[in-house]
Amino acid sequence: MDARLAVDDAALGRAALAVLDANWTGSATVPAPGLYPHQWNLDSTLVAAGLAARPERTARARAELTGLLTAQWRDGMIPHIVFRPGDGYFPGPAVWRSADCPAAPAGVATSGLTQPPLQAYVVWRIWRRCPCEETAGFVRRVWPHLAAQHRYLSGSRDLGGAGLAAIVHPWESGMDDSPAWDAPLAALPFRAGVHEDRYVWLALRYRDAGYDPAYLRAEHPFAVEDPFFNGVWLASTWAMTRLAEVAGAGAGPYEEAAERIRGALLARLWDAADGGFLARDLRADRTIPVRTIGGFGPMLDPGMPAHVVDALADLLESPRFMGAAGYPVPSCEIRAVEFDRARYWRGPSWVSANWLVRQAALAHGRETLAATLGATTLRLVRQSGFRECFDPFDGSGRGCRDFSSSAALTLDLLAPGGVPTG
Ligand code: GLC
Repeated sequence: MDARLAVDDAALGRAALAVLDANWTGSATVPAPGLYPHQWNLDSTLVAAGLAARPERTARARAELTGLLTAQWRDGMIPHIVFRPGDGYFPGPAVWRSADCPAAPAGVATSGLTQPPLQAYVVWRIWRRCPCEETAGFVRRVWPHLAAQHRYLSGSRDLGGAGLAAIVHPWESGMDDSPAWDAPLAALPFRAGVHEDRYVWLALRYRDAGYDPAYLRAEHPFAVEDPFFNGVWLASTWAMTRLAEVAGAGAGPYEEAAERIRGALLARLWDAADGGFLARDLRADRTIPVRTIGGFGPMLDPGMPAHVVDALADLLESPRFMGAAGYPVPSCEIRAVEFDRARYWRGPSWVSANWLVRQAALAHGRETLAATLGATTLRLVRQSGFRECFDPFDGSGRGCRDFSSSAALTLDLLAPGGVPTG
């Protein structure tokens, strides 16, 4: 399936469902045939969010997340890839060797990293879309898994000791090639020619330390506080305060956690001078001055102060991001020297990132901004199909085809009404 989706909404929705059905393995939706043949944490969670827009697909949205959670590690980490036997991919199970790690689940091979913790946020959306007995049971079943994930992030990933979770590899960001990682990657003690590539080298360092949190804190050479990862964590923490009642648990700890994460984001990553959130390199002890779409992540939090939201919305709508792109939102600030309209996460527009920014706008009642983001994102898929990403100037498709999260979130964008944000 490819371009020429300049059709009516019903046909666009059917085309999206056809992609999702083709990419369903029986227990998960792979991000795309061929290029990504396993279950990816972030992609699956976005697929569940999109499927929940169709009442008849709610059961599959729940199954998608339930499947992902069966691969959760005993320490609470939800892995970034869950492998299924047979299909190749590099780096695959032979590289990650999760079976050698006592914290990894038995019977399933996974990577040793995680991705932005969007699960609670999407469970809450599924609940709001379909507050039925089945979903209530689902919320009660997944609650201990979500609680363990949140404990893992605050207990094992607060490497800076200030209340934020650090990513320990660019693959944990969901924005693998973002220019925000250029400086910390360049600083790695890596010798070209000896090892194959910095990304794999870094993953092997962590693996060879037994995926040990003490090693991460003391020695691991890549540790970054990313505003997107932490903005998603904060949005999920907020969702936990809402889900607590359904799960029969207390909201108090999550209310406190949300305050702590929000406070740390503002104290450590907010650049008041230029109005935006930046990533912080813990090993170099400085913020990384390049502005990317990840800097809008904290706006997902309904509790972000109004002056911060105003500044973020101004930046988003300025020619630095949406204002100068025909098909927003570019993944990197257009005027940055690192901007490249053709390279992954260094310029192209992504349906998933646009959808999250749209959710952020809705969280603050910015209906006009949300409507623009929704319409321009639908224009991308109508023009070029469910591609992985798109040229932000002319909307042409880039990366792989039949990309599940692009298809799934189209369903959400087409759905009448929306999910109440309160
Ligand atoms: C790339 C993206 C990441 C995504 C994965 C599978 O690695 O950067 O966000 O999860 O592809 O689609």
